[in-house]
Amino acid sequence: MRKKVTIVGAGQVGATAAQRIYERGYADVVLVDIVEGLPQGKALDMLESGPVVGSDANIIGTNSYEETAGSDVVVITSGIARRPGMSRDDLLFTNMGIIEGVTKQVARHSPASIIIVVTNPLDAMCHAALDASGFPRERIIGQAGILDTARFRTFLSQELHVSVRDISTYVLGGHGDTMVPLVGYTTVGGVPVSNLIPKARLDQIVQRTRDGGGEIVNLLKTGSAYYAPSAGVTEMVDSIILDQKRILPCTVLLKGEYGQNNLFIGVPVKLGAKGLEEIIQLKLSAEEEAMLKKSAGAVQELVDVMKKKKASG
Ligand code: APR
Repeated sequence: MRKKVTIVGAGQVGATAAQRIYERGYADVVLVDIVEGLPQGKALDMLESGPVVGSDANIIGTNSYEETAGSDVVVITSGIARRPGMSRDDLLFTNMGIIEGVTKQVARHSPASIIIVVTNPLDAMCHAALDASGFPRERIIGQAGILDTARFRTFLSQELHVSVRDISTYVLGGHGDTMVPLVGYTTVGGVPVSNLIPKARLDQIVQRTRDGGGEIVNLLKTGSAYYAPSAGVTEMVDSIILDQKRILPCTVLLKGEYGQNNLFIGVPVKLGAKGLEEIIQLKLSAEEEAMLKKSAGAVQELVDVMKKKKASG
């Protein structure tokens, strides 16, 4: 029997991820949204591409959770996308409510699933999903680091005119302005990037990476990025469904690792059939450590705002 992947949210990120995963052919896909007809229409359209793209998997769209029962992986993209001028707390509280509601349904119908959270603000939404699901930390994983790392690799590849595949790097920390691109772990065909690009230029590329989400929002004006985010989701789903045990930067709950306790932030992890299988501990420079601490502080601030809101009802 084929594996089953549910994607909640049939918007830009969800539908694009559904397409990528459906085209892999290794799992049946269920696309869920609150808008009637939207997931059904998109899923049928994708199904009808099957004969051309060569996928024998099934894909359906639905407005309820019965059809999602027994999913192996559930990707949560439902929420409001960031719009220019929207206040941070508005986005936070709206998406927190959506994630809590969705996660409870997911946990009820697919109690053994691994949940991948995509909705922003990502790190805070991972906390909301963890609390609402009651799942262990191994089965709540956020997508952010692969996207941020992919942006950094893209810009470095353009700068150096080398294949994106030959650039290795990590971007850690929270998914926001305080993310931590690890220049010290960035190599191009094994050569440290600092030997290839002068520091001042490298700093500019790091800054463009930090601002990567905003750059796309400013161009699109009515939405946020989805091609690269959905590619990141698919790489995670591949590693879990196919038990590839890839080492990928993902957002997970730290319990002492990297000096953080009970906080979701991006670190390198091993992803396999059990979800989070290992946290990889990199030795950071004093500067990188300080940046990670600052990034963790920014995430903690959001988590505290959510806690306060919940306490006040
Ligand atoms: N249940 C199911 N679907 C929902 C719910 C809900 N409770 N609430 C909203 N949705 C759906 C919307 O109807 C919409 O189709 O979620 C979808 C979100 O899609 P888009 O608005 O296109 O947003 P998208 O660009 O896909 O981004 C989704 O991912 O990268 C993040 O910041 C981004 O938080 C945002 C999320």
